Amino acid sequence: MIFSYKALILAVFPLATSVIGATLPLESRQTCTLTCGNVADSLPFIQSFSQSGSDHFYTTSTTENAQFAAKGYAPQGVAGRIFPTQEPGTVPFFRLFNAGWIDHTYTANQQLRSAEINITKPPYADDTIAGYVYLDGSCPGTIPLFWAFSTSITDSFFTTDLAEYDSAISSGVYNGQGIAAYIYPAA
Ligand SMILES: *[C@@H]1O[C@H](CO)[C@@H](O)[C@H](O)[C@H]1NC(C)=O
Repeated sequence: MIFSYKALILAVFPLATSVIGATLPLESRQTCTLTCGNVADSLPFIQSFSQSGSDHFYTTSTTENAQFAAKGYAPQGVAGRIFPTQEPGTVPFFRLFNAGWIDHTYTANQQLRSAEINITKPPYADDTIAGYVYLDGSCPGTIPLFWAFSTSITDSFFTTDLAEYDSAISSGVYNGQGIAAYIYPAA
């Protein structure tokens, strides 16, 4: 049976076999063009902070960023770059909002999302999909997006800057929650 399948495949795809085997350089077979998104499609994940709500907010939408600025969120630059639409190898980065805490949080982890909605008190609610991110760092050029949470000011804070993450934790205000996703650097 194995022999006859092989004979059939070679009979049907003789040209394809020789082209793939002979002419593609090794390098092009090793790139992950099928499993990674195109970084050129990524958008800045714009960061702002509300002092009154002690709430970090992130969006790829300049329109939404302006709406939050009008509500008193101060600009804090760009946290990194994520995809506005789903690309190969990416998953949704869910944005949740806790109205009781005035806290926006973001997660690519479905179990965490469920727990934040169904277990955390007061509960988070689904807000939107903030964009699309990677669950690991296997795609070239991606870096960890760290997540810190403050129980004292009920704020979720995200940064790709490890020094900033460490200092948020050493300040005693935030607890390190680890890596929320892998994204592209801001610049
Ligand atoms: C929350 O719990 C309800 C009831 O068990 C369930 O139907 C729902 O899917 C859960 N929500 C999430 C986001 O997991």
